[in-house]
Amino acid sequence: MRTAIVTGATKGIGRAIVDALTADGWRLGLVARSREDLLQLVAETDCGHIAFVGSVTDSAFIDATVDQMVTEFGQLDAMVANAGVGTFAPIELTTDAAFAEMMSTNVTGMFNCVRAAVRVMKPRGEGMIVPMLSIAAKKSFPMSSGYVASKWAAYGMIQCVAKEVRKDGIRISSIFPGSVATPFWDGMGGAPWDTADMLQPDDVALAVLQVVNAPETCVIDELLVMPPKGIL
Ligand SMILES: NC(=O)c1ccc[n+]([C@@H]2O[C@H](COP(=O)([O-])OP(=O)(O)OC[C@H]3O[C@@H](n4cnc5c(N)ncnc54)[C@H](OP(=O)(O)O)[C@@H]3O)[C@@H](O)[C@H]2O)c1
Repeated sequence: MRTAIVTGATKGIGRAIVDALTADGWRLGLVARSREDLLQLVAETDCGHIAFVGSVTDSAFIDATVDQMVTEFGQLDAMVANAGVGTFAPIELTTDAAFAEMMSTNVTGMFNCVRAAVRVMKPRGEGMIVPMLSIAAKKSFPMSSGYVASKWAAYGMIQCVAKEVRKDGIRISSIFPGSVATPFWDGMGGAPWDTADMLQPDDVALAVLQVVNAPETCVIDELLVMPPKGIL
């Protein structure tokens, strides 16, 4: 039985990843801030996943989550660092709070998850880390200064760590989705484009399944997953 932590497990892409990994036989630690949503997810999946209620921005919580996974299941095979937030606005209308939330969730949160996973995977000499980045980690867009800054920062960090831990048997596979039809866009009064033209969360979950099931003789460093119509 393989085990993984999925952050941002309750909605959108994370929820689709949970369903895909569950069907693939994994036992999961599910991370999100809403207790109610997490407990409902554990009940719906009904196969022994563990709910961890807290924020990826809290390093002590993430360290404790990883430690409990190892205690309960004996090992952590994969960390799917998916939780992220976005606010899209002209820079003069991007508030301190919005910018700080993107940086703390998308950068510090990613750092906390990757560091905690490496801490337990390195002595074991194996493990997979799947950072959920974005096309916004490779390109720039108007109205996206905070989000793009956070994803470029996370990508820079991930490239450093990937080089650092290859020799330790840790494989890092970053996913770069284009626009995905998820509740991510709800807080902005809806998506800026027709959601019918976006990727579906299951498309991204399929990419995650592909990288975690790569043979041990290879690592898929990066997977760019785009809607058929391209960048919207
Ligand atoms: N949707 C897109 O178009 C798109 C495209 C490319 C990349 N991405 C990236 O894909 C990832 C998932 O996006 P999504 O569209 O699935 O978002 P979503 O539908 O808004 O879901 C976000 C999930 O993350 C959790 N979450 C948010 N902040 C958290 C925190 N501080 N600690 C723990 N959990 C937290 C949320 O639950 P709680 O609120 O209960 O914590 C929820 O489960 C993000 O990293 C995003 O940047 C999205």
